[in-house]
Amino acid sequence: MLKQIRRIIKLADKYKGKIRIAYLFSFLNSFFTYFPYMMSLFVIKELFQKTMNYRKVWMIGGILILCLLGQILFRYLADRFQSTAGYEVFAALRIRLGDRLKKLPMGFFSDGNIGKISTVLSNDMQYVESNCMNMIADFAADAGSQALTLIFMIFLHPYLGALTLFITLLIIVAGNICMKNEQKEADNMQQVNEELSEHVLEYIEGMSVIKSYNMLDSESNQLDKAFIDTKDKCIDLEKKVTPGLRIIESINIIGIAALVVLGLFLYKGGEIDLFKTLGISVFSFGVFRPVRNLYLQVTRIAVMNSSLNRMEELFNLELLNEADSEKIPEKCPDGVPEIEYRNVTFSYEEEAVLKNVSFKIPQKTMAALIGPSGGGKSTIANLLTRFWDIKEGSILIRGCDIRNVPLNNLMDKISVVFQRVYLFKDTIYNNVRMGKPSATREEVLECLKKARCMDFIEKLPFGIDTVIGEGGASLSGGEAQRISIARCILKDSPIIILDEATASVDADNEAYIQQAIDELCKGKTLLVIAHRLNTIKNADTVYKVEDGIISLS
Ligand SMILES: Nc1ncnc2c1ncn2[C@@H]1O[C@H](COP(=O)(O)OP(=O)(O)OP(=O)(O)O)[C@@H](O)[C@H]1O
Ligand SMILES: [Mg+2]
Repeated sequence: MLKQIRRIIKLADKYKGKIRIAYLFSFLNSFFTYFPYMMSLFVIKELFQKTMNYRKVWMIGGILILCLLGQILFRYLADRFQSTAGYEVFAALRIRLGDRLKKLPMGFFSDGNIGKISTVLSNDMQYVESNCMNMIADFAADAGSQALTLIFMIFLHPYLGALTLFITLLIIVAGNICMKNEQKEADNMQQVNEELSEHVLEYIEGMSVIKSYNMLDSESNQLDKAFIDTKDKCIDLEKKVTPGLRIIESINIIGIAALVVLGLFLYKGGEIDLFKTLGISVFSFGVFRPVRNLYLQVTRIAVMNSSLNRMEELFNLELLNEADSEKIPEKCPDGVPEIEYRNVTFSYEEEAVLKNVSFKIPQKTMAALIGPSGGGKSTIANLLTRFWDIKEGSILIRGCDIRNVPLNNLMDKISVVFQRVYLFKDTIYNNVRMGKPSATREEVLECLKKARCMDFIEKLPFGIDTVIGEGGASLSGGEAQRISIARCILKDSPIIILDEATASVDADNEAYIQQAIDELCKGKTLLVIAHRLNTIKNADTVYKVEDGIISLS
């Protein structure tokens, strides 16, 4: 358990101090909660000796009120520090994780990891967020109370102290074994949760295909299976924890009985007096309560541990190595090509997809890539933006190895027009402005005009302030494509990568898109994956890419 607490404090980063203060207040709260119990011994003694008087009654009353006030004050302070620290820690963690996701190679996002990312960001983080601060506070309070009761029992008699210590340790050992056993089930449960998220995402994303191929039954069967798996694992977890909890309860009860019996023996042997014996009988019922309470939460701790593991896994993923030893020069030096691939060999998995690819694209010229499907054209283009990093060879922009420049600097220089357009659920204006956040409204309008978007924008209810659906759902494919081109025009980067759209749009739209692209490409260095004869005609150089080998066409 200490290990979990250390992990959480480590995650807390700069909020560590706040959490430690909350921890201290929690401890003080428990001190004021337990103090009246200890005082009961003094009261019993006074009653027995018939020495209780009004002055002492007032004193006891005063102390009780002070303890109550102390409890309220420190509970309030602990809650305040703890909950604000909790929200702050997790807001910071989410931002940090978001930042890291941006720096992961694209390969990570296509390896079926989407379910993992979404469960970590939603389920796991939320679980830890809503449980960890309470756990730390409970731990502080319970550990503090247990220490106090132990001291108190030692004060009554060292044998009683030793027995209390022994039983406490026994509960700790049993609790830890129980937690270890449960960990595997908790991990399994989190795993099926992740699979469930993946199935749900897939089901929703693929809804159009599922409907059109009448696959509703088979797909929803899979989803149902994922729901049932999740339920089963939750039940497994509960089943596993129940026997362990009963054992902890039993040790607690046996421990109480043992304390009372030992107290009586000590009384009989004349080691302790009557009032202490009575005190033990009253007090022993609560002696192991703190440590027992701690371990009654094993499920919570096991699930949290599993969530922490998965969060750490995401945090520990290898990022694209971001160096800043070089910067791409603002002007392309004379005699240096804008883009150069030098002996690039690349594989996604084992087999090489690109083999010793070398070519140069001089500034403001167009290179077209042609070749059969699966030849490696998109791969060549994707490597320029560092969607994946190469291990062999190098890629240079204006003479700089792209692995040596900051990612921001690289992305400033390149715009990509993808075949599959993604627009955010936001206004057209904001979607375009992403290309250059400092742009004025006039500049945005100018780019939309250049990208031939005005014909359909004028028909929208709020013009460029119309909010479009996620993924551009309320626009036609060609319209969404033109907006994405407007975004690129605004970005005005010197290099454009174009994966030409094939026959997915109608002839009208195609003509408009072509005009928009022509506008975008004026005076730029172009790497075009060509599907049209027209493009090849306009290209300065045409390369054929087949089986990962590039050759002049
Ligand atoms: N993310 C990936 N993971 C593993 N293999 C991949 C991945 N993307 C592409 N490949 C493989 O790399 C090879 C080259 O693919 P690439 O997409 O570069 O071809 P292409 O020339 O662009 O084809 P097309 O004309 O159909 O778009 C193919 O064999 C493909 O299966
Ligand atoms: Mg391709």
